[in-house]
Amino acid sequence: MEVYLNGEFVPYERATVSIEDRGLLFADGIYEVVRTYNGKLFAMSPHLDRLVRSAAIMRLPLPPVEEIRAAIEECVRRSPYPETSVYLQVTRGNPGPRKHAMPKESRPTIFMIAREAPPLDPSPVTKAVAAITVPDLRWHMCNVKSVGLFLNTLAKTQAEEAGAAEAIFVRDGIVTEGSSTNLFAVIDGVLRTHPEGPHILSGITRMHIIEAAKHLGIPVREEAFGVSAMLAASEVFFTGTGSEAMPVGLIDGHVIGEGTPGPIAGRVREGMLRTAGAI
Ligand code: PDD
Repeated sequence: MEVYLNGEFVPYERATVSIEDRGLLFADGIYEVVRTYNGKLFAMSPHLDRLVRSAAIMRLPLPPVEEIRAAIEECVRRSPYPETSVYLQVTRGNPGPRKHAMPKESRPTIFMIAREAPPLDPSPVTKAVAAITVPDLRWHMCNVKSVGLFLNTLAKTQAEEAGAAEAIFVRDGIVTEGSSTNLFAVIDGVLRTHPEGPHILSGITRMHIIEAAKHLGIPVREEAFGVSAMLAASEVFFTGTGSEAMPVGLIDGHVIGEGTPGPIAGRVREGMLRTAGAI
C-alpha cells in the first residue's frame, strides 16, 4: 500500500517522520477525515475550510489548499476500495531540537492514508447503540481539529469497557458532544444540538444534518441542554463522517425513547445522504 507523504506517494513501510517532529513531541498538528460516497469525495470544501481554520488558530503553515485537495483526490484515484476514507494530518514538522516556542519558520509534515470506508447503505439503521457519559475535561479549543486527542481516546476506551459504542462529554452539566462525534437530541419535538464554539468540533456532518432537518421542516435549535433533558429526549443520535446519524438507545443504563432508532434520525440521515448525492 502507498501513502502520501510530503508531496509524494511512497510505500507505507517507507513513510517515516522524524522522532523530533513536533506532532510527536507536542501534538502540534491537525487532521481531517474525508470519505467518498459512490466513489466521489463528500463535502471536500467544508473539510478543507475547517483545516484552514484549524491551521490559522494553531499558527500552522499549510501547503496551498489546492495542492492538498489534489493530493486527497489522487489518494482516492489510487484507492483499490469501492468506498474510501482519507485520513490527512499536518504537523509543524521538525524545525530542530525540542523547544517549546514555535519556530519562526518550519516545513510542515503532511501525510495522507487511504482506507476502506464502510459501503453506502441507504436502508434505515436498525440498531440503536449504547453510550455512557463522561466528564468533559478537554481544553477550550475543541473547535480545532487537533491531533491532541488523549481525552477523546480515554473516553472511547471507557465506553468500550462499559460495553458501549460511544462516550458523551458533559461539561458543567451541559452535554457537549461525543468522543468522536457530535450529538443531537429531540427535546419537546425540537431537534437540539450544542452551538458551535470552543467546546465542540464544528462537525461537517452536523452541518449537513442541520441543513437536512431545515429542508424537511423539522424545527432545529442550536442550543445547549443538560443531562436530564437528554435522558428524557424522545431521540438521541450521534453524527460524524463515519457514523452518519447513529441512533442511541441507552445512556448510562437509561432507555432513550423506545430504545430503538427514532424517526427523525432516520429522516435527517436520508436527507443528508441525498445532499451527498449518495442516494
Ligand atoms: N471525528 N466531534 C469530534 C470530537 C470528532 O472527533 C468528530 C470527527 C466529530 C464529527 O465531525 P465530522 O462530522 O466533520 O466528521 C465531532 C473524526 C471523524 C475522527 O476523529 O476520526
